[in-house]
Amino acid sequence: MCGIIGYVGKSDRALNIVIDGLKALEYRGYDSAGIAFIKNNKTQIIKEKGKIKNLENKINFNLKTNLGIGHTRWATHGEPNLKNSHPHKVGKITLVHNGIIENYEELKEILKNYNYKFISDTDTEVACALIDKLYQEKNDLVKVLSKVSNLIKGSYAFGIICDDELDTIYATRKDSPLIVAIDDQDYYIASDIPAILKYTNKYMLLDDYDIVKMSHNNITIYNNKLEIEKKKNYTFSGNIEAAEKNGYEHFMLKEINEQSTVIKETMFPYLDDGINGLIDKMPDFSKYNEFDIVSCGSAYHTGLVAKTLIENYTNIPVNVEIASEYRYKKLFFNKKKLIILVSQSGETADTLASLRIAKEHNMDTLAIVNVVGSSIAREANEVLYIKAGCEIAVATTKAYLAQIAMFALIALKIGISRQTIDENELNEITQDIRRLPLLIDEILKNDYKNLAKKIFKQNDIFFIGRGIDYAVAMEGSLKLKEISYIHSEAYAAGELKHGTISLIKDKTPVIAIVTDMNIAPKTISNIREVKARGANVILLTTIKLDDNYDFINYKIVVPSIHPIIQSILTVIPLQLLAYEVAKLRNCDIDKPRNLAKSVTVE
Ligand code: G6P
Repeated sequence: MCGIIGYVGKSDRALNIVIDGLKALEYRGYDSAGIAFIKNNKTQIIKEKGKIKNLENKINFNLKTNLGIGHTRWATHGEPNLKNSHPHKVGKITLVHNGIIENYEELKEILKNYNYKFISDTDTEVACALIDKLYQEKNDLVKVLSKVSNLIKGSYAFGIICDDELDTIYATRKDSPLIVAIDDQDYYIASDIPAILKYTNKYMLLDDYDIVKMSHNNITIYNNKLEIEKKKNYTFSGNIEAAEKNGYEHFMLKEINEQSTVIKETMFPYLDDGINGLIDKMPDFSKYNEFDIVSCGSAYHTGLVAKTLIENYTNIPVNVEIASEYRYKKLFFNKKKLIILVSQSGETADTLASLRIAKEHNMDTLAIVNVVGSSIAREANEVLYIKAGCEIAVATTKAYLAQIAMFALIALKIGISRQTIDENELNEITQDIRRLPLLIDEILKNDYKNLAKKIFKQNDIFFIGRGIDYAVAMEGSLKLKEISYIHSEAYAAGELKHGTISLIKDKTPVIAIVTDMNIAPKTISNIREVKARGANVILLTTIKLDDNYDFINYKIVVPSIHPIIQSILTVIPLQLLAYEVAKLRNCDIDKPRNLAKSVTVE
């Protein structure tokens, strides 16, 4: 989703700083980019369709300037073309925006009565005109921005330059992420930490309706027109390498390869002090007898895995809900239900909205989040941080894995408390958790290029599985389609014959996952059904195969481990296979078309 960067300070290389920031925000997904800066005492805007490289080609980097704002646009209102790109300028106001102004049509009609003319299709240009109109009346942008929050419906993070104050950047936010960084007398605003990491790792989080005024040697943050004395300072603990590729061809491959470390960092601290440590470090779940897990995308798939883990090991029923549905459906709340929000970014608009609905109903909420200090992490009653580190590739891998790991720990904690897991089993599980990093690294040594070569030209690829394997199949299918653009569907193995099997023809790849031995024979029968219709069957399994499996065209064997953590291993070959297929198809693996890393609009 759109990215914002702004700089004002000592350096006269604001153009480079802004472009560096935009490049670091590329991972969020965008289709045009633009900057505004000061030249000859005037605001100058340069924007371009497509990649940042195109924008760079239009910029004269010899120009010295101490102030600039930049934007990567992920189109929501209007095509990704030049006139719709940001920054927009209306009257004295130059604006970059992330979010959606829901009542922009209504505001546009009102502003037309004041002779405002609009050249773009965007909601942002309307916001820009609105700010300009109010500025003409009030002449004070802090007052204007606090008034704007009453007039605009929707979400926004704004970066603003006003023609009357060319040494100052204003910024504000509501429901869209924005951070502020101060390093000596250099001031930054940004949508996310990577944008500033080349220059500083110290930052502050803005709250909704905060207003920032930053100029060459001064920064003030207001809320409700009052100056805020102090904001908490954060230091990003990773170094800049965390946001760089470290020799890997793509961020996605780097992040897949970090998964053994991620598991160590997410799980091991809970096991260091034995059972009591785990019990103490986890929230108290004893009052709950039902969970709603609410999330989007891969985090929704995590919820599906978690449902099996929690139901099987604790006997607590779990509802798994897509956040964009949850926020508008009839909800059944009771005080014994816990609402768990899962989000890598902690900023996904629908997940955040679901959290707020749950809180309006006085429900207890728990967030499982990666980005420290993100909106969902801050607003939930309790937060459990996964330790995936900075994830840049749009298609998540290591955060998904860490989310499952966190749910396995939750199931373990509740299972111990409810005595649905006995001591012997607990010992077996903790030993297996300790083996996980090694086993992950073993799987990572395998090469999936040959298999990728066999399937990368196909138009359709199906994934099947039962129970928890079906949940993993859904993630495998999503990973493949989002980065390789091959049509793919995941099916509950027994359901395929109720329609979709008609799409299976000669050589159609069907990736079948079989790790749950209780239902393995059933899935094997389903595999035989697709094989009989010509499918090219790829079996991903923990079973050591013998001659009875001669109907399999290709097999991937992952180590067998306790079922509570098996999915952590099972999904890795699917991540690597998706990666290799996308590479053979020359796809933009880290930034797939139309997708965004942090979906901050509904
Ligand atoms: C986007 C990303 C997905 C992610 C989903 C939810 O669609 O491309 O990889 O799973 O958002 O994001 P969240 O940050 O809430 O986990």
